[in-house]
Amino acid sequence: MPVINKNISLLPFNTFHFDCLAGHFTILQSEEDIQHIIQQGLLKDNQAIILGGGSNILLTKDLPQHLIIKNEIKGIQILQETSSYVLVEAGAGENWHDFVMHCIENDWGGLENLSLIPGTVGAAPMQNIGAYGVEIKDCLAFVKAIDKQSGKEKLFSKEQCNFGYRESIFKKEAKDQYIITRVAFQLTKNNHQFRVTYGVIQQVLSEMKISNLTLRAVSDAVISIRKSKLPDPAVLGNAGSFFKNPEIDIQQYNQLQNLFPNIPSFPINEHMVKIPAAWLIEQCGWKGKKVGNVGVHAHQALVLIHYGNGKGEDVLMLAKQIQQSVMNTFTITLQMEVNVI
Ligand code: EPU
Repeated sequence: MPVINKNISLLPFNTFHFDCLAGHFTILQSEEDIQHIIQQGLLKDNQAIILGGGSNILLTKDLPQHLIIKNEIKGIQILQETSSYVLVEAGAGENWHDFVMHCIENDWGGLENLSLIPGTVGAAPMQNIGAYGVEIKDCLAFVKAIDKQSGKEKLFSKEQCNFGYRESIFKKEAKDQYIITRVAFQLTKNNHQFRVTYGVIQQVLSEMKISNLTLRAVSDAVISIRKSKLPDPAVLGNAGSFFKNPEIDIQQYNQLQNLFPNIPSFPINEHMVKIPAAWLIEQCGWKGKKVGNVGVHAHQALVLIHYGNGKGEDVLMLAKQIQQSVMNTFTITLQMEVNVI
């Protein structure tokens, strides 16, 4: 039976390290625990917030009325295996990077480019986490979740998850309706498809003098790139990319290119291109800027930092100022990727 604790500091539970108070706090370790809190009526009034690793939230206030639920459902098991594939399921509360490392140790391919992303397995499909040319949807098989009202288990196929760039059904149509309990992936056992064309991966592999590609080598290269650009949340409060990379239509892109000939872009389809938000923010002069106890990371302008003793509101204010200057300079709306509470 899960214990409900009162007035708990959320400081250890968010990677921005903001000291907000949860009126009620509980840890769930099994599907049975979820059923218990549903039966007690604790999920009825939509005042419950499910936390994974707390690596994609910005807490801006105390939450005296809320129940904060830390999902710690664990376990990794093989559901099916052929000579070429393994279908493996992991509990939502498993640490994402540890799970990726487990796959690499077993020589299961598919998740290696997603090494060192903070957070949990259960939070990963919410925003279709992605890095270095791979998104979780590329090898996700299905998501198991429990309906917060009825307590019924539902299995979402990959198609039903409605994945998009940092999007899924769990952020849209099914927002706040489910607790994700387990996620299954179909991973390769041999003939791995190495994806090393994104950014500097190939260059780092050459520097590492890797001639024979392995899952471990790709993972090591990704870890080294991430460590060089992204601050370790254990050391410096942050939540990774704070904004999404905006997608704009070709007409707007052509107009901008006339004004800013060096504007970088990545084609999405024949009508749309993606512009790196980090470039837009850097052009507006924000990279490396410190405003009180918060600021913009010096090595990656898409990452906002909490240096300590600040408030979530300070980060929110900085984010709004950045949005405004990107709008003024480029007429582009930057959307926040982080969930603001
Ligand atoms: N750039 C700048 N200034 C900077 C950093 C980057 O101008 O300070 C430009 C460069 O043109 C560079 C381009 O932005 O080529 C892309 O930069 P990077 O490869 O670092 O990736 P990103 O678009 O900034 C995205 C993800 C990251 C992911 C990386 C690597 C989003 C919102 N973010 O960042 O994901 O690790 O690609 O694949 O899509 C996260 O979601 O928290 C996250 C860290």
